[in-house]
Amino acid sequence: MAVSRRDKADFYTQKAHKEGYPARSVYKLEEINSTHKLIKPGDSVLDVGAAPGSWTLYTHRVLLKGKGRIVSVDLNPISLDPIPPTVTALVGDAFSKEIRTRLVEEGPYDAIISDAAPMTTGNRIVDTSRSEYLAEQVVMLAEEQLKAHGNMVIKIFQGGGEQEVLKRMREIFQKAKAFKPKASRDDSFEVFLIGLDKKEGTN
Ligand SMILES: C[S@@+](CC[C@H](N)C(=O)[O-])C[C@H]1O[C@@H](n2cnc3c(N)ncnc32)[C@H](O)[C@@H]1O
Repeated sequence: MAVSRRDKADFYTQKAHKEGYPARSVYKLEEINSTHKLIKPGDSVLDVGAAPGSWTLYTHRVLLKGKGRIVSVDLNPISLDPIPPTVTALVGDAFSKEIRTRLVEEGPYDAIISDAAPMTTGNRIVDTSRSEYLAEQVVMLAEEQLKAHGNMVIKIFQGGGEQEVLKRMREIFQKAKAFKPKASRDDSFEVFLIGLDKKEGTN
């Protein structure tokens, strides 16, 4: 029997709750990392658009196994209590001058992960262009602050702009591709762009 959209959403939400994660989005990162191996224990990781904190907590617990460090930044505070000892949590616009200065002080990074998304308006053109802007900003951050051979993943709303972002990522990474996790809602128009093995001399 086909699993309905609502059943799928409830399944992941309940699983996240049982496993102590604040959001179901954790299963997207689980799937992305199990298929693409972005992060390993000991890495320094930047999580952009981190609140409420599922990706940060999963990175701390499972991917770093408590070894390494995570800088998490969001417009809102992450809701992890306690905040794991590997995590430096920053609150503010990741692309503001002030936060950018802090990100540079804490960098460079072995991996940059971003599930950042704009507040949606319901107008697909507005929402996709805002998402594209965020994705472009994260790619620029990766150009500066991701180490050679580092990996990244960014979320973008599908609407055309993702091809341009992917094109830029192919210039920076040995491999770049779009990936749609099964844990994404069936009606979601998000896709994740994955960059593997940053080329030397691209920053
Ligand atoms: C889908 S949520 C992230 C969920 C998170 N990955 C988790 O697993 O808990 C998207 C986040 O992007 C953040 N965001 C959007 N624009 C941002 C910006 N300019 N700087 C920092 N965070 C931003 C939002 O505040 C929101 O919390």
